[in-house]
Amino acid sequence: MAKLPSFKDLERAGWIEKAVSYGSGFGAVTVGAIDPLIDAVQASTGTRLLDVACGPGHGAGRANARGSTAVGVDFAPAMVEIARRNYPDIEFDEGDAEALAFADESFDAVICAFGLLHMAEPEKAIAEAFRVLAPGGRYAFTVWAPPERHQFYEIVFGAINTHGRMDVALPPAPPFFRFSDAAESTRVLEGSGFTRVEVNEIPLVWRYNSPEAIVDMIYKSAVRLVMLLEHQTPEARQRIHAAVVEGASKWQRGSSYQIAVPAVLVSAQKPQP
Ligand SMILES: C[S@@+](CC[C@H](N)C(=O)[O-])C[C@H]1O[C@@H](n2cnc3c(N)ncnc32)[C@H](O)[C@@H]1O
Repeated sequence: MAKLPSFKDLERAGWIEKAVSYGSGFGAVTVGAIDPLIDAVQASTGTRLLDVACGPGHGAGRANARGSTAVGVDFAPAMVEIARRNYPDIEFDEGDAEALAFADESFDAVICAFGLLHMAEPEKAIAEAFRVLAPGGRYAFTVWAPPERHQFYEIVFGAINTHGRMDVALPPAPPFFRFSDAAESTRVLEGSGFTRVEVNEIPLVWRYNSPEAIVDMIYKSAVRLVMLLEHQTPEARQRIHAAVVEGASKWQRGSSYQIAVPAVLVSAQKPQP
């Protein structure tokens, strides 16, 4: 019997498929978190910075423009190709955040923007960040705020809860909003050896021209959410699509629409010996 794909297999296949369209979807929103991440790791001239789950490479690109020596890593070869095209002077490697191919203590800063929530074993990615950081080095990651503060997820998960189901037959994976919880992030980071954990929120906004854009946004640039939608019945999926469009139609501001899509920014430091 053929082996069923794992969560990690599905994630990797999804990001390969979405690599080209991601930049005009969520990728256009996540760029708003880059400067806060670079600030959180206090990167400046000469900082050796690793951008984990780099996607199209804008974190590494911006860090380099601010004087750091950045390297990017992502497990989706199509993303790495795009990152290399976007920033030909920067090193981008194909690799797994949960088993980095870099030497111990080889970076002063590690960032991971919206990557941890897509990982099967995020604790391993956090332990790897700790391993590759030099003593005193800083780590920062972003994840999405939970649906009660994030209007996009409030609309989408509200529609799934009302018209579909959350308990579909997907391979096991950590909870989507696990690291949006300050206490859980602090517990895992401190458990990995980090100190000085700080948790802040970045008030990102998504602007769109028509309520139907929300369905397009999902299918062109989300992976985990699309797994959930693809496991609904066709009838439920249709009702979910109609409900998210209706939800998105309520946020008109002048001639366009906008909703709050805040990110949680978590940072920590590897102690000096
Ligand atoms: C939501 S995108 C974020 C991309 C970019 N950092 C940004 O902020 O726009 C998630 C990225 O994580 C990558 N990713 C997920 N799991 C990974 C893993 N285990 N190792 C390396 N990259 C991973 C995906 O390929 C994808 O490019």
